[in-house]
Amino acid sequence: MYIMQTEDLDLYYGAVQALKKVNLNVEKNSVTALIGPSGCGKSTFLRTLNRMNDLIDSVKIQGKVLFENKDVYSEYDVIDLRKRIGMVFQAPNPFPMSIYNNVAYGPRIHGIKDKNKLNEIVEKSLKGAAIWDEVKDRLNKNALGLSGGQQQRLCIARTLAVEPDVLLMDEPTSALDPISTLKIEELMDILKKKYTIIIVTHNMQQAGRISDYTAFFLNGEVVENDKTENIFYKPKDKRTEDYITGRFG
Ligand SMILES: Nc1ncnc2c1ncn2[C@@H]1O[C@H](COP(=O)(O)OP(=O)(O)OP(=O)(O)O)[C@@H](O)[C@H]1O
Ligand SMILES: [Mg+2]
Repeated sequence: MYIMQTEDLDLYYGAVQALKKVNLNVEKNSVTALIGPSGCGKSTFLRTLNRMNDLIDSVKIQGKVLFENKDVYSEYDVIDLRKRIGMVFQAPNPFPMSIYNNVAYGPRIHGIKDKNKLNEIVEKSLKGAAIWDEVKDRLNKNALGLSGGQQQRLCIARTLAVEPDVLLMDEPTSALDPISTLKIEELMDILKKKYTIIIVTHNMQQAGRISDYTAFFLNGEVVENDKTENIFYKPKDKRTEDYITGRFG
C-alpha cells in the first residue's frame, strides 16, 4: 500500500519552477532516500508532503499530494496533517527549555494535560529515539546543554511524541559527527518498523545503508525512483549512473 503519492506535482517559487511533474509513490513502513545535486529540489519536495511550503508566500503548487489516498492540500487540516507527518531538520533545533518540556510540547498542544500520561509519553518517545538512558536523570535540564547528536535524537523524540505515521528528515545527520550519525542510522532501522521514513541525504553510503528505495532528483525532476540496490548497481538512466559514480554533483 502506498502511504504517500504525488501526481504530476509542480512547484513554483514566483516565476521559477522548482519541481516539475514529480510522480512518486512511497510504500508504508519503508525508508525512501532522496538524492541529487544541490538545488535540485529535494528539500522543496519534502516540504510539499506536510505543507511546510505554505509558509512561503511566493509558492504556487499544481498537481496532487496524497496521504493515505486523501489530498493533503484540500482534505486535511494542516495542524492535523503535520501531527501525522512529522519533520526533522538538518540542524538540531531543540526549543530553549527543558528536555522534558521539549518532548511534552506537542502532546500538550494537542490537549494532553494529565501529568502521568505526559510522563509516559516523554519516556516512551525518548526511548523510541534511543536517548532515554542518556537523559533520564536530567529531564529538567535545558535541552541546549546536550551534544549535537543528542539534540538531534531529542528532536526525533519530540517528533515521535505526537505519534506520527510518516517522518520527513532533511539531511538529519549532516551536522553530526560519525558516531552520532551511526546512532541515528541505527535508530532509523528500528523506526522503520513503525513509521514510514523519507530522508534527504547527500551521503551516498548512508542512502545505501539505510534506504529501501531511492529517488534521484535532478533540476526539479525525478529522473529515477527504484529499489536502492537498482539505483546504485543497475541504474536505468545514464544521468543516475553519472551521479552515483560521482561524475557530477
Ligand atoms: N524559499 C525559496 N524561495 C525561492 N526559491 C527557493 C526557495 N527555497 C528554495 N528555492 C530554490 O528552489 C530550488 C530547489 O531548492 P531546494 O532547497 O529544494 O534544493 P535541495 O535539493 O534541497 O538543495 P540542497 O541539497 O542544497 O539542500 C533552488 O533553485 C533554490 O534556490
Ligand atoms: Mg535541501
